[in-house]
Amino acid sequence: MKILRTRRQLLKWRLSQRLSVGFVPTMGALHEGHLSLVRRAREENKRVIASIFVNPTQFGPREDLSLYPRQEKKDFALLKREGCDAVFAPLKAQEVYPRSDETSILARPSLSRILCGVFRPGHFDGVCTVVFKLFRWVEPHRAYFGLKDYQQVKVIEAMVEDFDLRVKIVPCPTLREPTGLAMSSRNTYLSSKDQRAAAELFRILSMSDSLKQARRLLTHYGFEVQYLESRSEDLLSKAPEKKGLWLVAAYFKGVRLIDHVKKIL
Ligand code: PAF
Repeated sequence: MKILRTRRQLLKWRLSQRLSVGFVPTMGALHEGHLSLVRRAREENKRVIASIFVNPTQFGPREDLSLYPRQEKKDFALLKREGCDAVFAPLKAQEVYPRSDETSILARPSLSRILCGVFRPGHFDGVCTVVFKLFRWVEPHRAYFGLKDYQQVKVIEAMVEDFDLRVKIVPCPTLREPTGLAMSSRNTYLSSKDQRAAAELFRILSMSDSLKQARRLLTHYGFEVQYLESRSEDLLSKAPEKKGLWLVAAYFKGVRLIDHVKKIL
């Protein structure tokens, strides 16, 4: 597996590829969810490249940028094991953002200023800006994103549509621990005991008959709910609770968790 540290190395690698390229962008601290994206990319493309970059522009000033888990050696070994051909893993943020006054992308407001966007202003602009840059350099045929970050997938699909980018976005299912907890790099902030307790988030979302009941139970089990909404699958409108997509963000033991469940009651 080629480890590419600079844009120059990345562009050179890309120029040497004649066959279809599948791309898995990540911020590292890889778990089974990421690896399932690599496997899917492997099945559908001749070449697979991942990126590992903790993107500063998608973190707010009081968020966990400096604490975000980093385990590069382990991540490289996992990617190699899954048959990844290359990984773009810049050593410094300046490799991706060489200037301090760069052009950036404004994510589509109807999608980026709701749900997580209300509590993380500018977050999706940062995601779009870095993903746009990565797409320019990698020029993938297909790019793989986990549906765990449902809103992120919708925002990226909108960017691809709005800029006519020539890449197919492949949304992939959320992977869960046996307890039901959605896999996330941020789960490592929780002890194993708290990770088991955090699985209540999915259980409560799945079993509740109303948002009111879900909110009450979540509070009872120690979650501090940021939002809990029932929306249409395109996220653009509120949906009846009985047949909506329920999306939640909640703090548990100081860790922000997100999840969603499609309801058919
Ligand atoms: O989902 C993530 O890990 C990040 O938001 C992404 C898409 C790699 C952009 O930094």
